[in-house]
Amino acid sequence: MSAAEQGTPRPLVKRLHPAGRPRLSEQAGLREVMAQFTTGVTVITAGGEQAHGMTANSFTSVSLEPPMVLCCVARAARMHTAILAAQSYGVSVLGADQRELAKYFADWRRPAGPAQFDTVDWQPGRQTGAPLLTGALAWVECRLAEVYEGGDHSIFLGHVVATRRSDESRSLAFYNGGYHHIDGRIRASA
Ligand SMILES: Cc1cc2nc3c(=O)[nH]c(=O)nc-3n(C[C@H](O)[C@H](O)[C@H](O)COP(=O)(O)O)c2cc1C
Repeated sequence: MSAAEQGTPRPLVKRLHPAGRPRLSEQAGLREVMAQFTTGVTVITAGGEQAHGMTANSFTSVSLEPPMVLCCVARAARMHTAILAAQSYGVSVLGADQRELAKYFADWRRPAGPAQFDTVDWQPGRQTGAPLLTGALAWVECRLAEVYEGGDHSIFLGHVVATRRSDESRSLAFYNGGYHHIDGRIRASA
């Protein structure tokens, strides 16, 4: 019986490129695979003179006791400098109607510094001063605990110092390179 018949996963490159020269680089292969992993969408922000925001889906919880979260930020991103300067960051978890905000904070053409928030509704986080976007599903404020190197990104581990959530239940999701809506009132049937 072959490996495929036994249900053993075959090597990725073989499956993607059954014949001839590989079409995708290994990195593109990873992107393509990770695109199948549905995530929420957040805007990570840092306050202060270098106030800045950036769309990110690399946000995840790490620990409940003590409460810790992380996000991964490209070392080349302006957000990287902003978090190191502020030594803290805020996270706004976007709702289904906030796709334009996600696009805005992923667009390098937005103004630099505090001016990028002029066209956006936000409030400063009470603990960190990080801009927290109005209309989000939930908000987290963190003090920077550790920075780990992760290839061309840094992993920013944060101590959670404040959390808040709204009553909204329609979430913005990112899947297969596009934005989607998840209605939290509709569950997969058992
Ligand atoms: C849905 C989505 C998720 C993203 N997630 C991340 C992320 O987790 N980390 C990251 O560094 N960039 C991420 N990006 C890319 C940044 O948002 C984008 O490169 C941004 O313009 C960088 O901004 P900056 O250089 O002004 O800080 C994401 C983009 C999109 C559209």
